[in-house]
Amino acid sequence: MSSYICVMNSSINSPFRYAGGKFYARKLILAHIPSHTAYIEPFAGGGSIFFAKPKVRFNQLNDIDDELVNVYLTIRDNPNDLICFLKRQPSEKSKIPEYLTEDVLVGSPLPATKELHGFFKNEFKPKSTLERAGCWFYLNRTSYSGIMNTKNMYWGYGDKYSMQPKNWAQNIMRTSQKLQGVEITNLDFENIIDKAPNGALLFIDPPYFNAAQDKFYQHFFSKDDHSRLAACLRRNNHRLKLFITYDNTPEIRELYSWATEMHDKEWNYCLQRTDDQKNRTDKKGERYKGKELFILNYNSNQALIFEPDFALFSSGSLV
Ligand SMILES: C[S@@+](CC[C@H](N)C(=O)[O-])C[C@H]1O[C@@H](n2cnc3c(N)ncnc32)[C@H](O)[C@@H]1O
Repeated sequence: MSSYICVMNSSINSPFRYAGGKFYARKLILAHIPSHTAYIEPFAGGGSIFFAKPKVRFNQLNDIDDELVNVYLTIRDNPNDLICFLKRQPSEKSKIPEYLTEDVLVGSPLPATKELHGFFKNEFKPKSTLERAGCWFYLNRTSYSGIMNTKNMYWGYGDKYSMQPKNWAQNIMRTSQKLQGVEITNLDFENIIDKAPNGALLFIDPPYFNAAQDKFYQHFFSKDDHSRLAACLRRNNHRLKLFITYDNTPEIRELYSWATEMHDKEWNYCLQRTDDQKNRTDKKGERYKGKELFILNYNSNQALIFEPDFALFSSGSLV
């Protein structure tokens, strides 16, 4: 098997830090995934599960956030241009003020600094899809928890805990390899679910029901949207395999009372401190518990026992 095929089908980390991402729940989720030949994420976000599992014959990532989708398309189709944007350019070509990069050799990766983060957040005006993708990628890798909503976006990089800029190019290249042949779309979920091929497995990870999710995402998901989603899934229930993950609330239990199985699940995760927080007295990052409801329309005894080799690629802290 060539190394190219090998990477395409391996577990890799999401290229992004993503609010509500399922990075820490990957093993639990993968243990409930049944065999399938078509796989679709209508609410892709950082795509943690897609990147953790092997690809199948048909793979699709969809999200309503056009900036996020633009970055996926750029990584899939023009990874070298993106890598080039994220390096210091000779000054006449550069859109980045010289004083912000003067210690950096031409051709070296832009450093992760508060000044550059502020520049990309407040001053930079992208003029092409490539510049939009480069700006988004820089901010995503250097903002606290990868929160991309500008009102709630803060500097959040730590040299010890975050992926360092010298590793971004490799991350972009291996992501690009995995994205080859993947359909990437920018539509509302209903278009995707209603048109999914018969028998496809859909991993459904919408914004939470009871969370101030307008803090995190660009598009607000209303209570009506939650009902619209449940109705859409119910009308496609007979022809698709559905894995739905939600916050565990009575309203969601009621909306999905027609499902085959519901499981309460818990997992641990840690939010690392950033350079700005390093004077705090606690030695480690803060520990949290993820608690969600896994809702399936199939029997979990059909699930594959799937153990991806996370050790090859992931270092749980470098996200
Ligand atoms: C909880 S996040 C998905 C996280 C992802 N599973 C991961 O591991 O990173 C929810 C995503 O739904 C997207 N979204 C919100 N409203 C949507 C809609 N109407 N149609 C499609 N996607 C939508 C948001 O932009 C966000 O990326």
